[in-house]
Order: sequence, then structure tokens, then C-alpha cells
Amino acid sequence: MIYLIIFTILCTNLIINCFPATGVSTINIGDQLNRTSQLVSPGRNFTLGFFPITDTNNTYLGIWYTNDNQSRKVWVANPSIPITSSSSVLMIDPGTSKLIIATGGTTLVNISNNESGRGSNLTATLEDTGNFHLKDETDNRILWQSFDHPTNVLLPDMKLGSDLRTGQSWNLTSWMSNEKPDLGAFMLSWEPDGEKSQRLMIRRRGQPYWTSGDLDNQTFEFMSVNNPFSQFQYNLSYVYNDEERYFSFHGINGVQPMWILTPQGQIIDGDSSATWVPEFCYGYDSGNGCVADSNLPQCRNEDDMFSHLNGDFTPGMTNSSVDDNPDLINSDCMVRCWNDCSCLGFTTSSNETGCVIWTGAKSVNNFSVNPQGNSVQKYVLISPNPSKGNAKNRIWASIFAAIFLALFCIGLLRYLKKRKVRREEERRQKREDEYFLELMASDGFNDETVLQSNGRKGSELIVFSFASIAAATTDFASENKLGEGGFGPVYKGILRDKREVAIKRLSRTSGQGLVEFKNELILIAKLQHTNLVRVLGCCIHGEDKMLVYEYMPNKSLDFFIFDETRKALLDWPKRWNIIEGIAQGMLYLHKYSRMRVIHRDLKASNVLLDESMNPKIADFGMARIFKQNETEAMTRRVVGTYGYMSPEYAMEGTFSVKSDVFSFGVLTLEIVSGRRNTSFSYLDKTVNLIGYAWELWQQGDALDFEDPTLANTCVVPQLLRTIHVALLCVQENATDRPVMSDVISMLINDTMSLPTPKRPAFFIGTGASRSTSTKRMSDDHSVNNITITEMEAR
Ligand SMILES: *[C@@H]1O[C@H](CO)[C@@H](O)[C@H](O)[C@H]1NC(C)=O
Ligand SMILES: *[C@@H]1O[C@H](CO)[C@@H](O)[C@H](O)[C@H]1NC(C)=O
Ligand SMILES: *[C@@H]1O[C@H](CO)[C@@H](O)[C@H](O)[C@H]1NC(C)=O
Ligand SMILES: *[C@@H]1O[C@H](CO)[C@@H](O)[C@H](O)[C@H]1NC(C)=O
Ligand SMILES: *[C@@H]1O[C@H](CO)[C@@H](O)[C@H](O)[C@H]1NC(C)=O
Ligand SMILES: *[C@@H]1O[C@H](CO)[C@@H](O)[C@H](O)[C@H]1NC(C)=O
Ligand SMILES: *[C@@H]1O[C@H](CO)[C@@H](O)[C@H](O)[C@H]1NC(C)=O
Ligand SMILES: *[C@@H]1O[C@H](CO)[C@@H](O)[C@H](O)[C@H]1NC(C)=O
Ligand SMILES: *[C@@H]1O[C@H](CO)[C@@H](O)[C@H](O)[C@H]1NC(C)=O
Ligand SMILES: *[C@@H]1O[C@H](CO)[C@@H](O)[C@H](O)[C@H]1NC(C)=O
Ligand SMILES: *[C@@H]1O[C@H](CO)[C@@H](O)[C@H](O)[C@H]1NC(C)=O
Ligand SMILES: *[C@@H]1O[C@H](CO)[C@@H](O)[C@H](O)[C@H]1NC(C)=O
Repeated sequence: MIYLIIFTILCTNLIINCFPATGVSTINIGDQLNRTSQLVSPGRNFTLGFFPITDTNNTYLGIWYTNDNQSRKVWVANPSIPITSSSSVLMIDPGTSKLIIATGGTTLVNISNNESGRGSNLTATLEDTGNFHLKDETDNRILWQSFDHPTNVLLPDMKLGSDLRTGQSWNLTSWMSNEKPDLGAFMLSWEPDGEKSQRLMIRRRGQPYWTSGDLDNQTFEFMSVNNPFSQFQYNLSYVYNDEERYFSFHGINGVQPMWILTPQGQIIDGDSSATWVPEFCYGYDSGNGCVADSNLPQCRNEDDMFSHLNGDFTPGMTNSSVDDNPDLINSDCMVRCWNDCSCLGFTTSSNETGCVIWTGAKSVNNFSVNPQGNSVQKYVLISPNPSKGNAKNRIWASIFAAIFLALFCIGLLRYLKKRKVRREEERRQKREDEYFLELMASDGFNDETVLQSNGRKGSELIVFSFASIAAATTDFASENKLGEGGFGPVYKGILRDKREVAIKRLSRTSGQGLVEFKNELILIAKLQHTNLVRVLGCCIHGEDKMLVYEYMPNKSLDFFIFDETRKALLDWPKRWNIIEGIAQGMLYLHKYSRMRVIHRDLKASNVLLDESMNPKIADFGMARIFKQNETEAMTRRVVGTYGYMSPEYAMEGTFSVKSDVFSFGVLTLEIVSGRRNTSFSYLDKTVNLIGYAWELWQQGDALDFEDPTLANTCVVPQLLRTIHVALLCVQENATDRPVMSDVISMLINDTMSLPTPKRPAFFIGTGASRSTSTKRMSDDHSVNNITITEMEAR
């Protein structure tokens, strides 16, 4: 209450300061807008004011969405004429009737340059559409408006195109760099090619660079506006007649609808940050809208691409040429490098202009980068498939051979036909990929795109570009490899925003289509639980599919419990917490209503630990991603780790939640004893951990089973109960094993009476006869902890 009173008192004195956004939207002749005041549109949608560029003394006049926390400018009055005087004001010049920026009596910038209006009753108003116009109030005539002079942003209701009667045209022009509103290299225009072909065109320094493809059914051929995954929808419309030809859009559900043409020549959706143009068009006509370039350098391959890297190049790639010309921007440097056959990469200097071109040894994939080096962004040419050049040469050789040996002409024709079919197939595949690449936002300005599933909060999945993943892992350098999981190697990566992630590169043979893969991922992204490693996103690049997980600094459980010194770090309360956490995570996987996930590879190395040693189950999505592709006949493909596999799964290939319960039981025994289930020897007898636990339990010596390092911290009844539950989980017969929810109540509930465990699976008792099947498994134990993953070749 008292605050309210103080607030009211303060505000009666300083109304403007308390509610700055309710300020005026109009200036009249005689008014001056100085650098500390702003115009705000009547509905508060837009704000107009002076804004500085950091680290310079340059100030510009601009318009931005009032609620945009990044204050992205939707229009700039003086992109090429920065103001340095701090006493400059915006005003209507009473003498010339122009909108000007002036200081003292001097005009610094003529904003409106339209001679048609001369009047004494002029107003300049910022509208809720974002349009700023100069109007003659006496005849209600608009003399000038910002919508007629677009900069780099297309707002709803703004026209892009031309008026054939007046010759007026509306194009967007990119900024020079993110810090420099000056005119950049790219221009976005509306260039219909006849009535049937309505399309956008990006020109790079005047040359056609990229086209959206035809507008049809509320989307563009190469610009996936309104695709089924996009959260924000637009109503796209155009006018095509003898008087006007233009395009415009309405945001249907966006908060800050705008399309931004970036300095790198990409189009960004201001609401979702989706990027719609490839980061760099290499001039190969690859079905992504890039305009083919007939003058491609011989030395480049269709697969070559630029990849971002942070840091210093190691010696060997230090020879460089520098061009400090401040008009050169990133894309110019890219083009220079691309066209220079000795170029391996380039950087721009810290002020984002000028080029540093790197040349050096020709083996383009053999360089490394020191990530600790200075953080200037570097672009390096990589050839994901360098052997392709040889293949091309071979094709040429065969063509010549065929010409000289005319007898082979027919064969050659056939060959070419086949090649065409294959090419078309490749192109189709590439197009599908490009569709995702578009979704994925290529790597320039913004290298992530969020795929959302029906706007469900928290279930979003980021699609990373391959270049950003390659950069994060320094091109999958072996020193960044964390390990090899059941489905492929795992790398540590550092994203450009410095976030640490773990990246799993899936084996290529999964054979799953992109669309299924992505749908699957969206489901998996919805699985969120404190005891599951979070899937942050994915990356699809040709046949390569990668999953991006949160990074766990404390490695995996096996790193601790099986190590003689590190196991001491895990006292009983911590281990109990880990066991319970794993159980909770498994319960969530098994019970989650929409999709029942059977992990199939629960083991110590798949349990990661966070900084407080809380367990997080990893690899849980894999099982499902791969399962969907299996047919009945292939369920014999056994994915898992011997020692953790239930007998019915290992031998018959049948799996159920009970096979996960079995693995949980084994894992629990390992956590309690600090020993591996496999290659375990006790009193010179070949007996596995399960058998050992079972024998001690039978003899009433279960306490001997505990890890000796736990002696001081363990809570005996809790420990005995845990062993008891674990033995219930590893019973031979799947129907005897409890489900995860029972496991948890048994573990937590001290007074609950537990059934007596039956003989465990794979028990090779000292006097018991061995069945052939148990023998087979015991032989495998000598192979021990190897993860066995058999993929079907296709
Ligand atoms: C800027 O304009 C506002 C409102 O017109 C005024 O209150 C303020 O004193 C001016 N500031 C300067 C530095 O002139
Ligand atoms: C900005 O102006 C101040 C004083 O006018 C000057 O000392 C400084 O060097 C200028 N900074 C830049 C980046 O031009
Ligand atoms: C801006 O707001 C959006 C949500 O509207 C949020 O996701 C984003 O992190 C914010 N950015 C900054 C720099 O605060
Ligand atoms: C602004 O326009 C007037 C003519 O209307 C011209 O005399 C003046 O030089 C212009 N000023 C600038 C800075 O362009
Ligand atoms: C201004 O903002 C309000 C609230 O966000 C919105 O309802 C309205 O449509 C906006 N007006 C325009 C012209 O965009
Ligand atoms: C300017 O024009 C408006 C609308 O015609 C009128 O209401 C207003 O009184 C005029 N103001 C002056 C100073 O002439
Ligand atoms: C001045 O601007 C108005 C409104 O944009 C336009 O109708 C008129 O043709 C322009 N006149 C000239 C001389 O450019
Ligand atoms: C806008 O782009 C079109 C097509 O490229 C071009 O003909 C026109 O001259 C451009 N207009 C301006 C003002 O640059
Ligand atoms: C238009 O797009 C919608 C949604 O993307 C789709 O359902 C419909 O079949 C399309 N219509 C045509 C004629 O392509
Ligand atoms: C889309 O815009 C057009 C033209 O502005 C309009 O006629 C149509 O009703 C709009 N459709 C939707 C779904 O908003
Ligand atoms: C390094 O560049 C210079 C010119 O920039 C050239 O003369 C020299 O041969 C280059 N050295 C190597 C090893 O490429
Ligand atoms: C950009 O930075 C380079 C050095 O990194 C410097 O030589 C050049 O003058 C700068 N250009 C501009 C326009 O500031």
C-alpha cells in the first residue's frame, strides 16, 4: 500500500518517466524529438527514437517493436548517414516542409525528400502498423511515409514490389553488418515472372542469388513458410495487374511479425527466428532456391562447404592475405575464397568488414583449430566427401573412352540415362534435406531452429545445422570423443553460445526416413524427467543423423563405481539416491502415457551423473528411434549389453518392460557391490554377480555383498531391502519380476513385506547343472562389457 502511495506521488511529478511508452505518437511543426525522448504509436506497438551503436559514437533514428527485448530495428531513417552530434533532433523543417534531423540550425539528414508537399499544418505520426508518415492535415494528404522507403525489414501490410504507374518500387536492402545499418550486399525484391510465377528474389550485389520459387497455396517452393511444423502462420498475398505488382503478408498468430533480410542474405522470421535462405549459395543448382552460377571454379566440389570455427588456426594454415576494405562483408569474403582455388578459409576482421583469406596446404580436411584462441569467427572450407572429385574424373575418362571406341556408344547412353535417374534421385533426396536445412536455419546469423510440436511448452526441439555441429566438435575431432555408445560415437561439443553439449552421431545404417526420424524426435523431446538426459535437438546432414544432448560433466556411473579410488566418492546415501533416481526415470519411460519406451540398454555406462551426482538415464530415445524401423522378422536383432540382458531377450529376442526391470536389477546389484556383473570371479569359481548375490542371500550373509567402502555410511535395513528388491528384478521368469512402480514402492516403503525371490536367471551355482543356454551366456561373460549392436545392412 505504502509503495503504491509513493509510486503515485512520484508519478504525478514524472508522468512521462513512469509511463514512457504512453508517450506521444505525433510531432507537429515546431516540435522537436531529442535523443532522450521517443514517439510511441497509439496502441504501443511501435516506438521511434534515436539509438546508438555500441562501441561507436554513431547514432541512428529508427523504429522497433516496443516489446521486442532485442529492439531489432524495423526501419532506419539514416542508414548511410550516422549522426555523431549528441544535440541532434528530429523535426519538421518549417521552411522546406521536410522531415529532417538537425542540430542547431543545421540540417544533418533530409529524411523525406518529397517536394510535393508545402504546408503549414504538417504532422509526422508513428502508426500502430509501424509506418511513420508525414501528412498535410489541411487536405489529409500523405506526403511521405517510411513504408515507401523500406530498409531491411518487411512488416505486415508493407508492400514489396512496384507501382508501374509511378515507377515507385519497394525492395529490402540488407544491413552491411549487424552493427552497421549502411547498405549491404543483398537486396530482396518481388520479381514475378508472369502471372503464374509469383516469387521473391534475392540479389547479391545486383546478381540473382536466390529465389523463393513460386508462391502457391500459402507457401513458397523453396521457402517453407507455413509448413506444418512452424509455430507462426502468415497470410501471404499478392497483387498482380497492370498498375501494381507487389507482395505483402499478415501475421496470423505472431507477436512481432516481421521478415528480416540479414547482412548474410538470409531471411529470418522475427517471431520464431526461423531462417529461410541457405547461409551461402554455392552456385550449384541444388533445389534450394540458389541460383545456378555458370562460372563455378573447377577446383570446388558440389559437396564442399564452409564451416564455422572459433579459435586460431594451428600453424600450417597461417599464410593469409588481408584486404581491409571496409565495404567487404562476409559474403564477399566467402565468394572470394570460393573462387580462389588456393583458399582454405577466411575470416572477417573484428569490425565485421574486410577479409582475411587463408591459404595453405591443399589437404583441406587436415587442419585443426585451437578453440582457446581468439574468438573471431572463422570459416573454413570443408569437403565432407573429398573422394567425389576422383569419381568425377573417372566418369570423364569413361566418356572419352566411349567416344574413341564408338562401339560403346549405346552402353554409354544407357549409362548416362542411369546416371540421370540417379541424379534425379539424389536431387530429390537433397531437396528433402534442403527442406530440413531450411527448417534448420542454416548457419549464418542464426544456426538453430526450433521445431515445436503443437506449441506444447517445453517439448521443443532445436534443429542444428551441420556446420554448427561440425564447428562445435571441431569436425568430430577424436580428442572431443567422449565414448562409443550402442548406436554410434558420442562427442563433446561447445556451441557458439558456449553451451556444452554431448553429440551422438548415429550410425548411418538406421535407414530411417527423415520425416519419421523427425517425428520420432519430437516425441522423444517430449520425454522430460529429472532422471533422463535431456535431448536438446538434432541435426540431419545427408545420411548423417545426430542427436544433441545436454552435457553431463560427471561422466557416467561406471566411471565411479567400478574404480577403486573413485568409488569412495559415492557413499551409501548417494548410491541410494542414484538407485532411486534410476528407478524413477525408468518408471517414467515405462508409464509415460503416450508412448511406452523400453530402454533395452540400461547399464552403468548409460547412467550419467550431474554435478550433484544425480543420475540421468541416457540413450533412452535410441531404442525407440530404431525400433520403429524394425519389422517382425527383425526383432531377433538384439541390441543391448550381455550381462544386463534378460534371458528371454538375449535368447529369444523378445523384450518387454520386464527386460528393463532385469537390467535395473543387475545395475542395482552393481551399485551396491561396486563390482561388475561380468567377469566376476569369487573363490576361484566362475560365478557371476547375480549368482554371488543369490548364494549370499540364501546363506543369510547378504550383508557381505556390500561394497566394503560403504561400511561406514550404509543403513543396513535399507541396504538389505535394496538387495532383496534387486534379486526380485533378476528372477529368471519375466512374469515373476515386479514392474517399475512396484520396485519403487518396495524400495521406499520400509514396512512393505516383500515376496521371496526365486532363482535368478543365469545362475551358475556351484553344484547346479548348467543348461546349454546358461552355458552360452557364461561363455559370453568372458567377452564382458562389450555393447553388442547388430544392425541390419540395407
Ligand atoms: C528532450 O525532450 C523532452 C520532452 O520534450 C524534454 O523534457 C527534455 O528536457 C529534452 N532533453 C534535452 C536534453 O533537451
Ligand atoms: C567517441 O567520442 C569521444 C569524445 O567525443 C572520443 O573520445 C572517442 O574516441 C569516440 N569514439 C569512437 C569510437 O569514435
Ligand atoms: C526475449 O524474449 C524471448 C521470449 O519472448 C526470450 O525467449 C528471449 O530469451 C529473450 N531474449 C533476451 C535477450 O532477453
Ligand atoms: C536537404 O534538402 C535541401 C533542399 O530541400 C538541401 O538544400 C540540403 O542540402 C539537403 N541537406 C542534406 C544534408 O542533404
Ligand atoms: C498492436 O498490438 C496489439 C496488441 O499486441 C494488436 O492486437 C494489434 O493488432 C496491433 N496492431 C497492429 C496494427 O499491428
Ligand atoms: C491543422 O489541421 C487540422 C485538421 O484539418 C485542424 O483541426 C487544426 O486546427 C489545424 N491546425 C492548425 C494550426 O492550423
Ligand atoms: C510524395 O509522396 C507521396 C506519398 O508517398 C506520393 O504519392 C507522391 O507521388 C510523392 N511525390 C513525389 C514528387 O515523389
Ligand atoms: C527493386 O528491385 C527491382 C528488381 O530487382 C528493380 O528493378 C528496382 O530498380 C529496385 N528498386 C530500387 C529502388 O532499388
Ligand atoms: C495446401 O496446403 C495445405 C496445408 O499445407 C494442404 O493440406 C493442402 O492439401 C494444400 N492444397 C493444395 C491444393 O496443394
Ligand atoms: C488473407 O489476406 C487476404 C488479403 O488481404 C484476405 O482477403 C484473406 O481473408 C486473408 N485470409 C486469412 C485467412 O486471414
Ligand atoms: C605466402 O604468401 C605469399 C604472398 O602472400 C607467397 O609469396 C608465398 O609463396 C606464400 N607461401 C606459401 C608457403 O604458400
Ligand atoms: C576494421 O578493422 C581493421 C583491423 O581489424 C582496421 O584496420 C580497419 O580500419 C577497420 N575498419 C573500419 C571501417 O573500422
